Amino acid sequence: MLVNLKETLKGIKEKKCAVAGFNVFGYEDASAVIKAAEALKAPVILMTNKVAVAHMPIEYYGLLFTAMAKDAKVPVCIHLDHATDIDLVKRAIDSGFTSVMYDGSQLSIEENIKNTKKVIALAHPLNVSVEAEIGAVGYSGVEGYKEVYTEPEEAKHFAEATGVDALAVAIGTLHRMETQGAKIQFDRLKAIQGVTDVPLVIHGSTGITDEDLSKLTNYHVAKVNIGTALRMMFGKTLREEILNNPNEFDRIPLFKKPMIKVEEEAKKKMQLLGF
Ligand code: G3H
Ligand code: ZN
Repeated sequence: MLVNLKETLKGIKEKKCAVAGFNVFGYEDASAVIKAAEALKAPVILMTNKVAVAHMPIEYYGLLFTAMAKDAKVPVCIHLDHATDIDLVKRAIDSGFTSVMYDGSQLSIEENIKNTKKVIALAHPLNVSVEAEIGAVGYSGVEGYKEVYTEPEEAKHFAEATGVDALAVAIGTLHRMETQGAKIQFDRLKAIQGVTDVPLVIHGSTGITDEDLSKLTNYHVAKVNIGTALRMMFGKTLREEILNNPNEFDRIPLFKKPMIKVEEEAKKKMQLLGF
């Protein structure tokens, strides 16, 4: 069932769950994630990012992922992750994406609000949800990217000024961590949820320990973004398969085990998030 982000997150706070948003790059990982979600009867978000759309046009992702979502037995949202370019947002909306994230985290708050409102004006009339970011979640090993923890008052002001459907906040995570070493600032999270009712989103969640992932469901965290954990699982298993089967040159048999491992990993993360 294809749904937008607002519908995906409806009632999630009361259930004490958070919906996983997984970065996926093609049929193999997307179908593994949907299988995991169906096994747990959990809603799920398939996220396309800039790396993916540099490889394959966003229009093709729109066709593939919306078809898969429509066939799924659980609610599936098709989301454009970290868009900084409004033209890409327009292409995503035209391609059937049901949700977009406008990432103005590197801009001043005024510019971020102005651009987020522009995206909302494009998206909402077409029933497409919008996520934005206040503060800035950095990238492990990347220098020169502004990293700023979210100030509760700024989050409140941003949510009220824009009317955004979900808000990404920086509370101690970093994107692309290969180990679970993030130190989550639960006090900051509590202070943010104390001043706004907007559903909160945590990025860079591969770096969060299993224990802290489960703890997030006690707060108003509605969406938890996970990318690197699945990429590592797919890549590592594929490498093993290639080395263990030196005469195999067809990709489909080589993809089998990585798909199973991605499904298992996605399932584990969703269980930690309360499903
Ligand atoms: O937007 C994507 C996520 O924040 C994924 O982060 O790759 O560190 O899990 P991650
Ligand atoms: Zn992110």
